[in-house]
Amino acid sequence: MCVCVHLSCLFLVLADMGSGQVDDSVQSTDGQQQPSLNTTRLLDKYLPETDLVLHIGDISYANGYSSVWEEFFDQVQSVASSVPYMVCIGNHERDYPNTNGLFNVTDSAGECGVPYENRFAMPTPAPDQPWYGFDYGSAHFVLMSTEHFFDPTSPQYQFLDAHLKSVDRSRTPWLIFAGHRPMYVDSTGDKHSDSQQPVAKLLRTYLEPLLHEYKVDLALWGHHHLYHRSCPVYQEVCLDQGTVHVLVAMGGHDLSDNVESSNPAWLEYLDYKHWGMTRLTMNSTTLLFEYIHNDDGMVHDKLVLTK
Ligand SMILES: *[C@@H]1O[C@H](CO)[C@@H](O)[C@H](O)[C@H]1NC(C)=O
Ligand SMILES: *[C@@H]1O[C@H](CO)[C@@H](O)[C@H](O)[C@H]1NC(C)=O
Ligand SMILES: *[C@@H]1O[C@H](CO)[C@@H](O)[C@H](O)[C@H]1NC(C)=O
Ligand SMILES: [Fe+2]
Repeated sequence: MCVCVHLSCLFLVLADMGSGQVDDSVQSTDGQQQPSLNTTRLLDKYLPETDLVLHIGDISYANGYSSVWEEFFDQVQSVASSVPYMVCIGNHERDYPNTNGLFNVTDSAGECGVPYENRFAMPTPAPDQPWYGFDYGSAHFVLMSTEHFFDPTSPQYQFLDAHLKSVDRSRTPWLIFAGHRPMYVDSTGDKHSDSQQPVAKLLRTYLEPLLHEYKVDLALWGHHHLYHRSCPVYQEVCLDQGTVHVLVAMGGHDLSDNVESSNPAWLEYLDYKHWGMTRLTMNSTTLLFEYIHNDDGMVHDKLVLTK
């Protein structure tokens, strides 16, 4: 039943990667993301067996500089020209005051999602509605924008609800959800309305019931620059069956070490000292999720889910 050319499908998932120059020659507003070069090297290494790449926001950190977008595309050219390079929008692609976004901040430096939308043709419902779903192999992916409204009266919520409801689990047994800002996060950030904790709470309030109702297997997030994996969880309580949340924001930007002094109850694995990416290998009955450091190329955390 898998449409992938290989017996099982292999997806590479990353976030917050950015770009870098080997000789530090290019300086953009957000500096160099040197570790992104190692992550890109991993992408290239796994390319021969890879079916699809998913990059969950904060893609190039161009922040208004077209030349940085060009550098980014040069960096990922071998992957992006060979397999689908699917994306979610992040704050550095979208956010700007008074542009009908959820956060009134300047993180995109005025890009307002326009270069993003024109450079990545994703199957979205309408301009500036960067949410969509697609089937690949035995998985169905649903991708949201955490930078747009997602309360129950919003067009995005209506889309996500209707879309999640319509997934045919006999065709695609695995249901994978993704968005840039995390629904579960180990972070001390709580000062502003766009800080990690208030946003996570908002996501849990409005969208976690949907993930629970439609039995999402895996939820993947970015933005807080570290790796962590939760237990199967609902409303911050570990369950036997539930959605596993993984933060994969260690693609290449400076790491975030502002974690809470004691681990949240739902936390199963935490690493804020390494960059890397994750790999999903799946057929219709087994999903293997692996976290790989970009310096030693080794697997440091893994999870097996079965149907
Ligand atoms: C958004 O920020 C701008 C200035 O950057 C300000 O003029 C405006 O009042 C703010 N809007 C909201 C809803 O906070
Ligand atoms: C899926 O992969 C697992 C692990 O490799 C294997 O044991 C199982 O038989 C496979 N299932 C199908 C339906 O191919
Ligand atoms: C890239 O990986 C190499 C080992 O393969 C390591 O020595 C180097 O420090 C890494 N560079 C960065 C910027 O993380
Ligand atoms: Fe971000």
